[in-house]
Amino acid sequence: MTKSTIYVDLGTHAYNIIIGKGLLPKAGEYLSTVLVSKKVCIVTDENVAELYLSDLTKSLEKSGLEVCPPIILPAGESTKNFTRLQYIIEKCSSYRLNRKSTLIALGGGVIGDITGFAAAILMRGIKFVQVPTTLLSQVDSSVGGKTGINTASGKNLVGAFHQPEFVLIDTDVLKTLPARELKAGYAEVLKYALINDSDFFNWLEKNGEALLNGEDDFLKYAIEVSCKAKAAIVIQDEYEEKDIRALLNLGHTFGHALEALGGYDGRILHGEAVGIGSLLAFEFSQQINLCPSEDVERVLEHLIKTGMMAEPPFKVTAEDVLNFMKGDKKNMDGKITLILTKGIGQAFVSRQIRETELTAFLQKKFG
Ligand code: NAD
Ligand code: GLY
Repeated sequence: MTKSTIYVDLGTHAYNIIIGKGLLPKAGEYLSTVLVSKKVCIVTDENVAELYLSDLTKSLEKSGLEVCPPIILPAGESTKNFTRLQYIIEKCSSYRLNRKSTLIALGGGVIGDITGFAAAILMRGIKFVQVPTTLLSQVDSSVGGKTGINTASGKNLVGAFHQPEFVLIDTDVLKTLPARELKAGYAEVLKYALINDSDFFNWLEKNGEALLNGEDDFLKYAIEVSCKAKAAIVIQDEYEEKDIRALLNLGHTFGHALEALGGYDGRILHGEAVGIGSLLAFEFSQQINLCPSEDVERVLEHLIKTGMMAEPPFKVTAEDVLNFMKGDKKNMDGKITLILTKGIGQAFVSRQIRETELTAFLQKKFG
């Protein structure tokens, strides 16, 4: 399998994403040519540290980089909080990192988001690199520079836009990823197809199951298509100001509500919630006569065929879901904003949501 490079053309903070097999043990070769200073610090979680920290550290040291003691955090969504952020900042200060030093996020979206945010605010911004190790982080969170943590009021409510210097995607690390996490990441792959790429949806209908069985070439192809799709959107609307980047939130407004209602206790993963949320966006679009029912059927069938979650694994009420949706970051002037669709590959941002229609839909769905 050959290595691919995708250039994220963001002017003064442009960067490359490289995708291929066996790249992590060679990370030092790539990073030593990109980084301006030799001092680096790896931030990771306990699961990933066990599997990949040693290989990464050895590779960086072999290439002459000065590697500080690693910062190892507990695994899971609850790590994205102020306490852990403060811990990272204090450790980095004790290592006397400077503005040219680099944090290396080795892990899934949780580690990428909190490390990126620490890098954004340390000394008003130091450098960081993403080495994503889940499918979700390889196709979505490691690209585009959204960083942040959660608060009691909801997900990602504190954060910053801060682009990485480089994204290194080694598809081999997905071999150790639990099947449930792989499926959760697949929901974000599916998202790109549903937003604006019906050919990719056709491809997923044909190859999605093989991809989820760990077929290397299919995984690499899907990661590449996803990263290209994300890069294309991010370069047009880096700060989500033009109703272009917001498309990447397809399924997320419904999904974030489900995640919050699950209390982030592991019953529903972020990707699982996004998969269900995408289906809800299609179903709601159909209910208000925007989307043909055949397309909703195809999405539902695909979720079922690939063994994805198609409904929340716990009881929710329409009122609870609506309450969380009202707190979404995309809403403006008290109006709910949703990513709706006219069919597979035809998503758009709608700021014209009628609360009565949404309530009726949620009541029909959840009671
Ligand atoms: P995660 O980071 O919690 O990782 C999932 C689990 O897999 C963890 O237990 C982790 O330890 C384990 N793991 C990671 N890599 C592994 C590997 N190779 N082998 C074995 N185990 C491994 O979750 P995630 O799904 O990667 O990320 C979810 C987070 O990403 C959420 O907080 C979400 O808000 C965020 N996110 C951010 C963006 C963005 O643009 N910044 C986009 C999408 C999602
Ligand atoms: N994951 C949504 C975004 O990056 O905008």
